[in-house]
Amino acid sequence: MAVDYAIRDGVAVLTLDNPPVNGLGHATRLGIVEGIGRANDDAIVRAIVIIGAGRAFSGGADITEFNTPKATQEPTLGTVIKVLEGSTKPVVAAIHAVAMGGGLELALGAHYRVAGPGAQIALPEVKLGLLPGAGGTQRLPRVVGLETALNMIVTGTPVPSEKLAQTALFDELTEGDLLNAALSFAKQAADRGGAHPKVRDRKIEHPNAQGFIQFARNSVAAVAKHFPAPHKCIDAIEKGVTEGFERGLAFERECFLALVQTPESRALRHAFFGERAASKIADVSSGTPVRKVERIGVIGAGTMGGGIAMNFLNAGLPVVLLETKQDALDRGLATIRGNYEAQVRKGRLTQDKVEARMALIHPTLAYDDLAHADLIIEAVFEELGVKEQVFRKLDAIAKPGAILASNTSTLDLDRIASFTQRPGDVIGMHFFSPANVMKLLEVVRGSHTDKGVLATVMQLAKKIKKTAVVSGVCDGFIGNRMIEQYIRQALFMLEEGALPAQIDRAIEQFGFAMGPFRMSDLAGNDIGWAIRKRRYQEQPELHYSRVADRLCELGRFGQKTGSGWYDYQSGKRDAQPSKLVDDLIVAYSKEQNIERRRIGDEEIVERLVLSLVNEGAKILEEGIAAKASDIDMVYLTGYGFPLWRGGPMLYADTVGLYNVERTMRKYAKQANGEAWEPAARVTRLAAADGRFNA
Ligand code: NAI
Repeated sequence: MAVDYAIRDGVAVLTLDNPPVNGLGHATRLGIVEGIGRANDDAIVRAIVIIGAGRAFSGGADITEFNTPKATQEPTLGTVIKVLEGSTKPVVAAIHAVAMGGGLELALGAHYRVAGPGAQIALPEVKLGLLPGAGGTQRLPRVVGLETALNMIVTGTPVPSEKLAQTALFDELTEGDLLNAALSFAKQAADRGGAHPKVRDRKIEHPNAQGFIQFARNSVAAVAKHFPAPHKCIDAIEKGVTEGFERGLAFERECFLALVQTPESRALRHAFFGERAASKIADVSSGTPVRKVERIGVIGAGTMGGGIAMNFLNAGLPVVLLETKQDALDRGLATIRGNYEAQVRKGRLTQDKVEARMALIHPTLAYDDLAHADLIIEAVFEELGVKEQVFRKLDAIAKPGAILASNTSTLDLDRIASFTQRPGDVIGMHFFSPANVMKLLEVVRGSHTDKGVLATVMQLAKKIKKTAVVSGVCDGFIGNRMIEQYIRQALFMLEEGALPAQIDRAIEQFGFAMGPFRMSDLAGNDIGWAIRKRRYQEQPELHYSRVADRLCELGRFGQKTGSGWYDYQSGKRDAQPSKLVDDLIVAYSKEQNIERRRIGDEEIVERLVLSLVNEGAKILEEGIAAKASDIDMVYLTGYGFPLWRGGPMLYADTVGLYNVERTMRKYAKQANGEAWEPAARVTRLAAADGRFNA
């Protein structure tokens, strides 16, 4: 039963009951309409209260019905709200915990609102590239005022109910029992009789509405240039201000329908659902028992180990941090403290919290101190021999049932697991640098990894606020395996005629946070060099441009050495194009007898993005990633792929696989064309007019 109907002391109580957040799915909407009708027909009933069961008043649209006919089937939310407004008996919305999106719009359709403290009030549609589609842009300004409403609608940020106490949104805020307060409010309203107020009849008061709207437009233009929705939110609010409620409402509807079709909204919805989908693993049911994880061990207090430890300290979990030498341990601790102190200086953390978090660290040089840890993450040097030593020791000392994780970025997890007698307990937790900041966590599932271990790590990832994506075992996993092909193309284009700054500019204009050369300078060019040297040995048939090796031979490893593809002034991160590097590139082409040509920005973008797509298609075909949206989540959260394009695989879907394949075949005919044989999945989807994200 999506809506329960009961009569309490002459008041009909409609209880929304659609767990987890009383989403306004079709059955719920129908239940409300029927309940209002029944209450109006029943002579005993004098008033109506709508309240939510469980964790929320209502979280808005039912996301399980998104993109299904039920989402738009009558009664739509607009119809439900009309029915509420048209009720001759007073309707009171009793709000607790959450009134968001359609949930808030529903409440705004009631004659009165009574709320408990701490309820989260929001119209978050803009976060999905939409605007509130059931009158939110028209009604909210009429109760909380133009400025507050516009801020809420344009940012989508939740506001606690008590912060809105001074506005006309709530007729009563109660600390006591919400239902009792709503019942007594409803009875008083019925006693008063007469016509009950409708939000739509209120006026929007503002001394200089046009001036404020213009100010808001300018602010939004600066921060949301790639997203149309915030602009449309303002347009819709303005329409209501200048032309009245009905015109505003019709315009809001028009904007909603237009926004649903935009690629930006599609991308944001894809990311929203992709995040949820990533946590679901086909053969690991949601009921899989998870292991208790309360005590963490981290081995290695270097760049990664320190950042990894911080994630757990921030979540209040104690961490045993192990190093081989006291000075390395001291350095690691100092870096962690330094990172926290920097947050204090920015006002993001209090000194007390820093001390509390530091107190959760147990620094040690002794493996025995890890004996009680529930999860031990290794972040030591990237050498198989070192990993072997560490895992053999862990196998000897870790308690039964402890999860043993490796942060390796390139080594074979199954080999690592084989160093232990308990390969089922071994898993990869591939954090990204800086590990305390980056959202992405690739969870590497070895061929023996126990399902309970996988489920535990996925759940833990949520606790430390990471976006976890499962990857199978292969060199580079999902993200780095794809980026290698992207970098490979970038280097080919250097020798064919482009320069670093042009390539970076083109792909940054496409929307990447950072082009390949600025990124390499940040990460350290020596890392890619080491990988290439290994490739030259392992896959001598694979063709690589050696131009980057020349750069590394000069010791230009990037920001850390003060020079790389670009020059850096000491203490600054601004990349200055380097004449020396440009000359080196031109000389390299000459030496290789390559006639340099002008490479257009379109070619740069196509070759970089489609190289990701082609490798992504192989990764899907091999089952390394379970679904295309997982790949997109990796790129959105770990590699700075533009959010409004939804990730490389969704981008390919948007371009169309037929076009993608044609473009690949075009580049296959050029120099360095061997990289462009389309992956089997690309060819198949192109022929069938299919999509990666079905
Ligand atoms: P790092 O060189 O900064 O730190 C490694 C630390 O491990 C050093 O402090 C070293 O003293 C310690 N160590 C070495 N052998 C040890 C042992 N047997 N027992 C205890 N401690 C030991 O290296 P980084 O960058 O932190 O990398 C660590 C791991 O994380 C590697 O597997 C690397 O591939 C991986 N990784 C690195 C990323 C990066 O961007 N740096 C990104 C993702 C993964």
